[in-house]
Amino acid sequence: MAYKDLHENPFDESTIAKLEIFEDYAQAWIPTFVMNGAETICIFDFFSGTGYDKNNVEGSPIRILKKIKEQIGNIFQKKVKIKVYFNEWEPNKKVQNKFQLLEKACIDFLNENKDVARAIDLKIFNENFETLFLKLLPFIKLYPSLVYLDQNGIKFLSEKYFLELEKIKQTDFLYFVSAGYFWRFGDSNEFKSHFDIDITEAKKDPYKFIHRKVIEQMRKKLPLKTQLKLYPFSLKKGSNIHGIIFGASHPRAVDKFLSIAWKRNEVNGQANFDIDDDAKKDQLLLFGEQKLTKKNEFKQNVRNKILNKEIKNNFELLDYTFEEGHIGNHAAECLKEMKKNGEVIYDSTSPLVTYDNVYKLKKKLEYKL
Ligand SMILES: C[S@@+](CC[C@H](N)C(=O)[O-])C[C@H]1O[C@@H](n2cnc3c(N)ncnc32)[C@H](O)[C@@H]1O
Repeated sequence: MAYKDLHENPFDESTIAKLEIFEDYAQAWIPTFVMNGAETICIFDFFSGTGYDKNNVEGSPIRILKKIKEQIGNIFQKKVKIKVYFNEWEPNKKVQNKFQLLEKACIDFLNENKDVARAIDLKIFNENFETLFLKLLPFIKLYPSLVYLDQNGIKFLSEKYFLELEKIKQTDFLYFVSAGYFWRFGDSNEFKSHFDIDITEAKKDPYKFIHRKVIEQMRKKLPLKTQLKLYPFSLKKGSNIHGIIFGASHPRAVDKFLSIAWKRNEVNGQANFDIDDDAKKDQLLLFGEQKLTKKNEFKQNVRNKILNKEIKNNFELLDYTFEEGHIGNHAAECLKEMKKNGEVIYDSTSPLVTYDNVYKLKKKLEYKL
């Protein structure tokens, strides 16, 4: 099927939202490894585009370079090598204009930012992702890597790519997927050959949830004991639903992505629109039961799990929180309310539901009834 060329027009609002999430993640990811003294780290942008849009708004590769620039002092001080891999390839085109624009954009940027040029080893490819992915996979496996897969459409969601990424514990990835296409074409053999989705199951919920549904079905394809966690961020563009799929095995990565997602949307942490109609739920109902907002429903579940002793300490609580796609703060709010109401006691001023307390400092705190 034919896809619209993203670079024919200036980036629209939802494309910019996507790019901002991409760059926010780079901003969180780069210093984590730089400050931990990693010897080498890698960033792969397999679908880089042209560098800038028609209005000179930066695309993913330039945004990545700028995030490296922000950390340049620490990078030199800690002597971290940064390998950057960009790729742009237009199918069926003899003259690869977009690749040439990408090359020029990067050369110009590095000429103007000689410190970044000295800090990184940049390789720019002009190859079909299908072959390049296999070629670069050994390098993705070698070092802590951040992988961007900003494809057109859905084709490269195929298991042969994402199940390879699943195996690599120190790789975080961000996919872009035109999830809404599944709704329309998910039954066709062409779509099934890339990603076989149970479209009857997916269509049990309204269209706006299609991106979530795609991820639910991806999860079913993962190995039984996988450590990989997948999170959606749905992006509404006109009447279409697209979205980001974030994947990582390490709780630190999950913590960072969820913080970015909840900062972007404080109501649902999962979309650039009110996907669960939370605004309506906030209005008092005159008749019938009031529905809980996503955050309040989570807090109610936490409270029940504490009261029935399914969750007994901050270690269990943080894991449950991430599993549910929430951030530590939401769980902490609930625990503080419970403490105030005399429902729980813990020997600390805060309930310690943070990544640092649980995974870094390994400070265990028991919650007693
Ligand atoms: C959604 S755009 C990426 C946008 C880019 N991240 C940016 O910020 O400008 C997808 C890009 O992938 C390129 N592309 C399409 N098929 C490809 C393939 N098989 N391998 C590599 N690149 C491909 C397209 O030319 C297009 O520029």
